[in-house]
Amino acid sequence: MSDNFYLKRRSVLAKKMRNHPIKDEDLLTIINAGIRVPDHGALNPWKIKVIKDDKLKVIDENIILTEFKRENPEASDESLIIESKRLQRASVVMAVISTPVEHPKIPNWEMVLSSGAVCMNLLSCAQSLGYAAQWLTEWYAYNNKMLDYLGGRPGIDRISGFIYIGHKVEEPNERRRPDAEKVVSYL
Ligand SMILES: Cc1cc2nc3c(=O)[nH]c(=O)nc-3n(C[C@H](O)[C@H](O)[C@H](O)COP(=O)(O)O)c2cc1C
Repeated sequence: MSDNFYLKRRSVLAKKMRNHPIKDEDLLTIINAGIRVPDHGALNPWKIKVIKDDKLKVIDENIILTEFKRENPEASDESLIIESKRLQRASVVMAVISTPVEHPKIPNWEMVLSSGAVCMNLLSCAQSLGYAAQWLTEWYAYNNKMLDYLGGRPGIDRISGFIYIGHKVEEPNERRRPDAEKVVSYL
């Protein structure tokens, strides 16, 4: 098999990452790769919010844990501990927000797709630099308090994903991959 990066690329679960700092230089590289995506009409219909340092804890405690408790008043202590450290699993979390605009020609769908491309570029670039990275939504990507905190407009903008970036403890195992013959056909 070819040693092409994309044929070996693999995510590392956020819960398996180490969260010590990543180099600022690498962070910039990842961000610049993230915004270098196809974007019909160059509308930039997305935003990246970089969450690092003490902000990881602030959002974990003030948004994720608080909202989880509000939605799950009977939650176990064990689940509260998990929710109180969600973002702190990573060194940096990049929230990608789809921010579509009204346009006479370019459909909303294409703007949303471009936002997914930002997520994938951030993920791939971080992985290409040797970092552990994973694209997750989890319940709080659909929470309006989170969207509002990140500067999104509830009802218009949506969180495309959180890209967790940290350090590998070990190389991940390969996961089951689709059978190309089942999902690809040649016309
Ligand atoms: C938009 C999106 C949201 C996801 N959200 C979750 C999630 O909330 N929880 C989860 O366990 N996996 C989620 N995943 C899947 C993980 O990223 C998973 O680790 C990934 O499929 C690993 O595959 P890879 O090695 O091909 O990158 C999501 C994937 C996508 C594309």
